[in-house]
Amino acid sequence: MTRTGAPRPHPAAPPPPGVSSLSSIGPFRRLRIALSLSSAAQWLGVPALTAMAAVLARGDDPAARAQAIGGTLALLLLPAVVLPPVAGLLAARVDRRLMLIIADVLRLVVVVTVPLVDALPWTFAAAFLVSCLSLLWIPAARSSLPGLVPDEESRPAARRAASRVLYGPAPAAALLFAVLALVASGTLGAGSRADLALYVTAGLFLVAAAVVATAGEIPATEPVAAPSPLKLIFQGPGSAAARGLGLAIAAASVTAGAVVSVARVHAGELGGGDAGYGSVLTALTVGLGFGLFLGPRVLVPFSRRRLLGLAVIAAALALVVLALVQNLVVVVFTTAFLGVFAGAAWSTATAALREADAARDPDAPEDARPAAFLRSVALIAVLITFAAVPLIAALVGSHRLDLGGGVYDAYGSGVAMLAAAVVALLAGLVAYRRLDDRRGIPLFPDLRAALHGEIYTPPEQAAAAPQPVHRNRGVFIAFEGGEGAGKTTQARLAAIWLRDHGYDVVTTHEPGATKIGMRLRAMLLDRDTTGLSDRAETLLYAADRADHVANVIRPAVERGAIVVSDRYVDSSLAYQGFGRQLPVEDIARVNAWATGGLVPDLTVLLEIPPQAGLGRLSAPADRMESESQEFHERVRAGFHALAEADPERYLILDASRPQGELSREIQYRIREILPDPVPLGTEDATSTFPVITDF
Ligand code: TYD
Repeated sequence: MTRTGAPRPHPAAPPPPGVSSLSSIGPFRRLRIALSLSSAAQWLGVPALTAMAAVLARGDDPAARAQAIGGTLALLLLPAVVLPPVAGLLAARVDRRLMLIIADVLRLVVVVTVPLVDALPWTFAAAFLVSCLSLLWIPAARSSLPGLVPDEESRPAARRAASRVLYGPAPAAALLFAVLALVASGTLGAGSRADLALYVTAGLFLVAAAVVATAGEIPATEPVAAPSPLKLIFQGPGSAAARGLGLAIAAASVTAGAVVSVARVHAGELGGGDAGYGSVLTALTVGLGFGLFLGPRVLVPFSRRRLLGLAVIAAALALVVLALVQNLVVVVFTTAFLGVFAGAAWSTATAALREADAARDPDAPEDARPAAFLRSVALIAVLITFAAVPLIAALVGSHRLDLGGGVYDAYGSGVAMLAAAVVALLAGLVAYRRLDDRRGIPLFPDLRAALHGEIYTPPEQAAAAPQPVHRNRGVFIAFEGGEGAGKTTQARLAAIWLRDHGYDVVTTHEPGATKIGMRLRAMLLDRDTTGLSDRAETLLYAADRADHVANVIRPAVERGAIVVSDRYVDSSLAYQGFGRQLPVEDIARVNAWATGGLVPDLTVLLEIPPQAGLGRLSAPADRMESESQEFHERVRAGFHALAEADPERYLILDASRPQGELSREIQYRIREILPDPVPLGTEDATSTFPVITDF
């Protein structure tokens, strides 16, 4: 088994520049509130309109109800599939604030008329119209928050805030629907309709429009491109990775879509009504949010592709349970689990996509198409599910089965969910097989090892690997360079290559690889840390390093492992010595003491001009990254001087070269210092380089 060291904390925990500081901008805060209200109304409108359609469908017949709900849901989603380019064009031409107000007011009018007109065809039309208006509202909302922040640096945080506004209110809206249904049945009787929820939806739109109207000017920013999902599907995935991932995402979307499409009818069959419906939707949305958050954070050493396959299969199995168990409370809890699995599948798929792209060529300009392709696949899979699952429910109808000992009510909604679960399960199994990047390695030991923070190595491979007992000491390799040089990627690729050759590899990084280190890292990189003296900064980095060496690096090297560290002492010499202009010899002395004199066997220096490197970073700048251009120039010169002085120990590389070439050179150089060199014939990077092509 291979220890992975402390799992790398989530990239850089970038001190969110300014999530708090953004809120201190008055107009930003006000607009965010308005958009949240509008978004909540939009989400509340979904169960409200579907519940209304269910009531207006012929009487109490579950089959007619299922179809009315399926039709409403499909109409709610249809504009998102066919209209985005038109909506994007319009949104770019009309003033943002005006667009937000018009969309809110018109949606308010449409929603209010639904209970007044009181007819199913108008409810259908209303669903379609509301959704078209939402399509005009979304791009305006997305681009208006970034428009309100003054500096370029805070824009990413503002964009994230805009995304949160679009999706964040969904669980609260679902819960509100459940509460309103309870209130309505309490005051208006059990058979009450969704009128109250529709009026509250309209009320929220009204308040949102009023707040936007008083919010003041919204400066124009670049229009948000809205590619057509259909076009994206026809164009194809853009990469082989996206194709395999697309299947998994389609399966996960079917599971979530199936629950939504028959939740109202199924809740009704189980005696739950609209409050039950709202509870199922709340469980699903909360679960999804939780899953999205968990996906990249759980089982860090475990293959992302395996995790994705497993998450999809788990979501399909949860749907089987949902279909068979006839107890509303169990249904609600199982739905939450289904949501967690589906959400984790989504965030894992996007992480796997990024990984596949990085393995191909991180230097290639980022291609947004695969991610947009995944979104389109999800959208269309859900649309088809909305149309098909209620139809199956209606066609099958409900039957009472005599099972000898007792009776079992087979509801159409349950059977339809079961059918969707079977489809999702099959697709999930195929996706798992296609995506599996650890073929031949048994799943359960692999999972068990991941639970212990380790990567599983099968016994035969471990036996074939050079045994640590043959060596007294392992190898220590450091990767150094300025910001955005690609150290992290190259360190990872080198580690994968070494592992592929059976070596016991520990990947780690500075600052923040240990528990204490993580706290030091937060202090060092948080932009809210002000007034930290240069000497204190140096000592904090050295303290992190002392802990890192004592607890991670030295034990691993002593047991014979290969340690690959992203940054080491040279970072302090370059940043604190050259960058902060402290005496380099003093820093070297402090660090020699902190590390007990441990020096890397090889240091790979990736050189990049500061401007180019800083331009590559996507996360908001941390405390060090926000230093001046001259500071970063001095750091670069410092690294260069250190490397020039000791060519034996350094490999200097121009980081602007293609990534494949860089990793090949690194592999050649590493081979020279390995105690049991990789056998000749396998050094050809084109044949051993772990490019993942198997889809
Ligand atoms: P990190 O997010 O790990 O940056 P990178 O991905 O570029 O490695 O943050 C590490 C920051 O800390 C980076 O800006 C360099 C700085 N640093 C020092 O100033 N001195 C040090 O000794 C170390 C290890 C890092």
